[in-house]
Amino acid sequence: MQQNRFFVRGSKQAASEFAAKVFLEAFWNSTGNFLFGTATGQTPVLTYQNFAKIHRDKAEGEPEDFADFLRFIQLDNYVSPGSSADNLPWYSYERELSESIWRVPNSGMYIPREYTGNPEKEAEEYRKLRQAQLNWANTYMQILGIGDEDGHIAFNMPGTPFDSTVHVVDLNQETITANANKFFGGDKSLVPKRAITTGIGDILKANIIVFEALGSKKASIVKKAFFEEPTEQVPASALQYYGGLLFVVLDDEAAAEIPKEAFTPMEEIDIAKTVSDFLN
Ligand code: F6R
Repeated sequence: MQQNRFFVRGSKQAASEFAAKVFLEAFWNSTGNFLFGTATGQTPVLTYQNFAKIHRDKAEGEPEDFADFLRFIQLDNYVSPGSSADNLPWYSYERELSESIWRVPNSGMYIPREYTGNPEKEAEEYRKLRQAQLNWANTYMQILGIGDEDGHIAFNMPGTPFDSTVHVVDLNQETITANANKFFGGDKSLVPKRAITTGIGDILKANIIVFEALGSKKASIVKKAFFEEPTEQVPASALQYYGGLLFVVLDDEAAAEIPKEAFTPMEEIDIAKTVSDFLN
């Protein structure tokens, strides 16, 4: 039987390059429309830089106008009262994506509107929009990060059902504290308290998932997610039920608590062949 789950580890740069290569090979080895599900946060920054670079190099001289069949869909967004389409907050995910991965030529970019006055209605609309994009796509590939302590994926907090779809969420204290420390100079009062997120059930519909974790803060939760009993208290553990092609890409620090035997050396994986055998 063909293997559909790989754990790889390396330096931060090697891990980010590997993740970027999976995206690239998935894109170039799939036929038809390609939906790239993005995450924001610190983890994918280097991966997006690598992806944009490799993609640019590879696209050079290619006759295909790939922009017509590549679209992006973002997992989640804050609810930012007081902001507007013309006045996005400085921490805006939309701004972050526009300045990084969305710069790759594409035919559509989607994200829940953070400036909505009615988050529940926006969640309902985003659910329909996601469905329309899934109908459009022949291949849907999703990148995921993980919450440092609580194991959230997208903004699905502990206790979220594994079959959940797009919904509005009150962020828990762990997430607010982690985001305050990473992005808001430690000031929790500045972190938005609510978000609109893609559900766990939506994520599990992806054909390919690249789960990425970097740094020692993630070591313990990564182990819980993949090597302990799945539980709704650790949202990422839902990935143990995932039937698509999964790459768990870790740097050495995040990999510290995972048994060595779980890993396949990066150089032994023919990414293009693995992806193309799986998709075709
Ligand atoms: C963001 C998202 C979150 C992050 C998680 C980890 O779009 O979906 O689940 O992936 O909070 O964040 P970082 O990468 O900053 O550690």
